[in-house]
Amino acid sequence: MVRLGPKIPQHRKGTFSDVPQALLDEVHVLEEQFHVSGEKLQQITKHFITELDKGLSKKGGNIPMIPGWVLDFPSGKETGDYLAIDLGGTNLRVVLVKLTGDSKFDTTQSKYALPKHMRTAKSEELWSFIATCLQKFVHEFFPDGVDHDLPLGFTFSYPASQDNITEGILQRWTKGFNIEGVEGHDVVPMLQAAIEKVQVPVKVVALINDTTGTLVASMYADPETKMGLIFGTGVNGAYFDVCGDIPKLEGRLCDDVSAETPMAINCEYGSFDNEHLVLPRLKYDIQIDAESPRPGQQAFEKMISGYYLGEVLRLVLLDLADNKNLIFQGQDLAKLHEPYIMDTSFPSRVEEDPFENLSDVQELFNEKLGIETSEPERKIVRRLAELIGERSSRLAVCGIAAICQKRGYKTAHCAADGSVYEKYPGFKERAAQALRDIFEWPADEQDPIVIVPAEDGSGVGAAVIAALTEKRLAAGKSVGVKTN
Ligand code: BGC
Repeated sequence: MVRLGPKIPQHRKGTFSDVPQALLDEVHVLEEQFHVSGEKLQQITKHFITELDKGLSKKGGNIPMIPGWVLDFPSGKETGDYLAIDLGGTNLRVVLVKLTGDSKFDTTQSKYALPKHMRTAKSEELWSFIATCLQKFVHEFFPDGVDHDLPLGFTFSYPASQDNITEGILQRWTKGFNIEGVEGHDVVPMLQAAIEKVQVPVKVVALINDTTGTLVASMYADPETKMGLIFGTGVNGAYFDVCGDIPKLEGRLCDDVSAETPMAINCEYGSFDNEHLVLPRLKYDIQIDAESPRPGQQAFEKMISGYYLGEVLRLVLLDLADNKNLIFQGQDLAKLHEPYIMDTSFPSRVEEDPFENLSDVQELFNEKLGIETSEPERKIVRRLAELIGERSSRLAVCGIAAICQKRGYKTAHCAADGSVYEKYPGFKERAAQALRDIFEWPADEQDPIVIVPAEDGSGVGAAVIAALTEKRLAAGKSVGVKTN
């Protein structure tokens, strides 16, 4: 029989009876440190709400709360052909979206791996890489050429300020990117110039955050959607507020926008608690932050997102091996000493190992790190992967709980996407449990706020947003702040 739905983590019968007592004691300490209680989650959520409000205020705060200039709810009736590109943390995706107007769509797409050096390349190299991929795609799917510029929604998944929908001034790189000459600049003209250089008939009509795209794509297909979420290389959420509740836009809006007009907000809440007031940071988190290209930033993201989970595991293992002499004794740990050698697929594969003797873990350590593991060591590695995954999923939902409380949502579909949500074993179940711990819902009733799999935000979402933008412009309506 084929079982549908999320893969349930393997049940483990194994005991820790063969694990040396000193190592076991250390693991118990780590269990306590990594556990985030329901009470703590409630406290974090409360502080989160204050910070979301601060971000919308004139004075501002840590959380950018960027108005995304999607000023209409999608109706599901939008139609047309649109191109979309998504510059994510790991790949560049080019998508051709046909919106068919009945909450349905067709997509054709290609994915291009972002070369690793691109994270720190020169700005021109990045834009020309994107333009070349776009050129390949357009030549393949429009071999006879086109008679008009193809409208493009550009999903740029970094904090970019927007005074209107066709601009995005990068505030700072996240997820390990560090390309000079982009921060503080509008990325749209840079991309448009590179597109013109390779002579493809494409015009960027909207700049979109991946969370906003996820929100809109999911609303296009499911009107119960209240949030768009990414749990991937980075972490973030978007929701619809109303313009009257965004004090920082007071006096800056055009006459066609009223207090009740909806406004998509890209929260950029990966930067929640950069002041380190409530998050239960451990020494590993502090080290990751200190050694990152942007210390002091993305405090929440650095404890949760896929870019960092493998690194947390690496640092805990090094601590147990080098400082406490409790594991991997007498082995060459040179590879384990390489920062970021373990991406998130590492702890994820550790948790997935279906064998009681954890033979997949053995293989993984051997292949990737050149380390021989004993069975007790593997059991400990596995326990650590669980602790790291569980902490990530529990903390991750505080953003959801805060938005739902702030907006007074009693029920909600919160549409999620991203590699951690999709692939990290147990993430979905643990996140649902954490929401129950925060809201204390009666155990015998259906959860009123649920995380559901999203529609393709950076493809379909970008296309729907491009369509909504074209419609507003055709009706002479505004898509940004007043210009005079
Ligand atoms: C970025 C956000 C993005 C999130 C998920 C974060 O690092 O700042 O813009 O939405 O990652 O991709």
